[in-house]
Amino acid sequence: MIKLIVGIQWGDEGKGRASHFESKNAKIVVRATGGNNAGHTVVANGKKYKMHLLPSAIIRENVNCVIAPGVVIDPEVLISEIDEMIKADISITKERFHISQRAHVILPHHKQLDGLYEKLKAKKIGTTKRGIGPCYSEKCNRTGIRMFDLCDPSTLKKKIQESVLLANTMFRQYGEPEVDVEEEYQLCINCAEKLKPYICDTQFILMDADEKNENIIVEGAQALYLDLDHGDYPYVTSSNCNASGTASGAGIGPTKVDEVIGVMKAYCSRVGEGPFTTEQENEIGDSIRELGHEFGTTTGRPRRCGWLDLVMVKNACFICGLTSLCVNHMDTIGKLGKIKVCVAYEYKGEQIGYIPIDRENCTPIYKEFDGWELEDGITTYEDLPENARKYIEFIEEYTKVKVKYIGIGADEKQTIVK
Ligand code: IMO
Ligand code: MG
Repeated sequence: MIKLIVGIQWGDEGKGRASHFESKNAKIVVRATGGNNAGHTVVANGKKYKMHLLPSAIIRENVNCVIAPGVVIDPEVLISEIDEMIKADISITKERFHISQRAHVILPHHKQLDGLYEKLKAKKIGTTKRGIGPCYSEKCNRTGIRMFDLCDPSTLKKKIQESVLLANTMFRQYGEPEVDVEEEYQLCINCAEKLKPYICDTQFILMDADEKNENIIVEGAQALYLDLDHGDYPYVTSSNCNASGTASGAGIGPTKVDEVIGVMKAYCSRVGEGPFTTEQENEIGDSIRELGHEFGTTTGRPRRCGWLDLVMVKNACFICGLTSLCVNHMDTIGKLGKIKVCVAYEYKGEQIGYIPIDRENCTPIYKEFDGWELEDGITTYEDLPENARKYIEFIEEYTKVKVKYIGIGADEKQTIVK
């Protein structure tokens, strides 16, 4: 059984938590796109874990974890994440943790370029400055460095020299220090020393597990509206983080996928720039931010907050081929008393139910719901207050996709299976 877990808003929907929850019966959990621009938080066994590159299931020692070809890896960040886990008494061995030889490497000049592009752009993207875009650009330019290259000192320096040609032209032009090839080479060699045991052909591992009918979970990163092709370009990340891109990044074909779970919050949040039709730049947005602790796991930035946009969710159901939904933060949104949900857009004098390319020109049309208070200890769907059930059932009716999981608190125990 192969399941994909993907974000269907602008990230931070609780993919890590959903993936960790689903991994109870899994053999392997895979990270397939993005890099350490992701920030996945899991609260389990009374402890809080934050992951950027490692799949959330790394904290379940009976589950194997894979970082697949579609990911871009900052090797220093990965090493420090591994060290953190080892400090927390989680065993990370070459038997249970695998890094694809094909995954690309983020080097210091990618981070420098990320900063420089942001400085030069008239309209800033608000990237995480982790070097994601420039690393994927070099990959597309076919001058990138792969994890495999780290382990081959005989060709590595030449490859780095070639990979920095464009970056150096930019740095020279804008008066920034040029790349120190020797320094990047040494960094790679040092990191290779530590990461080498885990670097392998992950394709073979996934095919083997599938042949044995073992469960594989792919933990998406980012989200549909940050997708390079289907998101709010240019306010997107540089990978295809939609469901098909996630499967592809892992090395899994579309017909091999049995379930696609779309993770969403009961409202919307966004970090970075870009259109946000239901944004509430007022006390409502402030309340959502405070109640939902909406501050970035990766950069600490306060997240922009607003009402749930079901036009986006319905669009996501089709593009991602969702088989079910996971709705998180139902505890948070209920506390707002009166709640609004966007059910259509007004665009050029018409009412529409799709997302036009210039969505910044859309005005939301809302339906109003009454809030709810959740008592402690709720474990079943039937125990939820009627207003909360109405909210969930409206999402199902509007999208024609079933809600499978409902998040009612930070701890993964506070997940209702519907
Ligand atoms: P998870 O997996 C939320 C956003 C950045 C910025 C844009 C481009 O935790 O949901 P990048 O550094 O990728 O070039 O930045 O994408 N972004 C995210 N926002 N959650 C994420 O990941 C994100 N990853 C990237 O804020 O707007
Ligand atoms: Mg996050």
